[in-house]
Amino acid sequence: MSQGSQPVEPIRWTADTLHLLDQRRLPHEVTYVACHTAREVAVAIRDMVVRGAPAIGVSAAFGMALAWKGGEDLRSAADELRRARPTAVNLMWAVDRMLEARQRGADLVVEAQAMFDADVAANRRIGRFGAELLGNRATVLTHCNAGALATAGYGTALGVVRAAVESGKNIAVFADETRPYLQGARLTAWELQQEGIDVTLITDSMAGHFFQQGKFDAAVVGADRIAANGDTANKIGTYTVAVLANAHGVPFYVAAPMSTIDVSCPSGEGIPIEERSATEVIEILGRRMAPEGVAVRHPAFDVTPARLITAIITDRGVLRPPYSESIARAVAGNQQGS
Ligand code: MRU
Repeated sequence: MSQGSQPVEPIRWTADTLHLLDQRRLPHEVTYVACHTAREVAVAIRDMVVRGAPAIGVSAAFGMALAWKGGEDLRSAADELRRARPTAVNLMWAVDRMLEARQRGADLVVEAQAMFDADVAANRRIGRFGAELLGNRATVLTHCNAGALATAGYGTALGVVRAAVESGKNIAVFADETRPYLQGARLTAWELQQEGIDVTLITDSMAGHFFQQGKFDAAVVGADRIAANGDTANKIGTYTVAVLANAHGVPFYVAAPMSTIDVSCPSGEGIPIEERSATEVIEILGRRMAPEGVAVRHPAFDVTPARLITAIITDRGVLRPPYSESIARAVAGNQQGS
């Protein structure tokens, strides 16, 4: 299982250029796409060169920094970046923060770098809080990729796993392959292998079987947007995992930074769900496997109702139900602290 320890760096800023690890090519190739304008960053986000809510947010912040350096119109750059993907609220949050920073006369490169550092620090805090929820020996199911690749570094759900392993716990991860885009098979399996963390890949349809066998001690996933009442949008298939966890009495944890909480959304019903191309469903890795002309749906995210979530692990601590109250308290604390 162990392939040695390699740091995973999804986002690099050097010489006024944003370098994004091309996640479409993983696990076969480690190559970077260079972005020099906000438009190039928006295209990279839309085309999944970079993905994962916090990584999208930090990349968009650097996109705004590029727009500022290049003398582009910041409002148009902001609009273009916001349109790149609709569900991950970190994208809107990051763009808005950069516009506010500019109003204060801030240097947007410094601001984006600060956002990058703050994201890694937030993930380390999430990791520490979350690690305490796991036993000394535990098998954790995760869905999609909420790891270092999905953030500025360290990860949210996989940050919890990393922190638990760093604290000496014996943690094994089962990764759902995550159809249709295969973030689990291509990214989570690769990322955990890089660090020598015990990972077993399963198809999404195998999760129920392993829950029934009592294999999992916890399910830990990331989030793209958390509504004020705790309803959580995450990669399509997350809701299924939550229902299974609930049916088998296994704790279901969401790990996310405060920047993923959208208090302007009262409940999950208000979260926009990205519908992606039919090709991603019809084809696997560029090879068609469904008949011509078949009708296809491709919602890229689903919403897990708050009642199925045991706790939300944030950088401000572990939030418990009722989430309307714990989220409001955490957000108020966050605003005071920032
Ligand atoms: O479509 P993706 O790959 O951007 O979806 C990513 C997820 O759903 C992640 O679980 C979420 O963004 C949290 S990442 C820390």
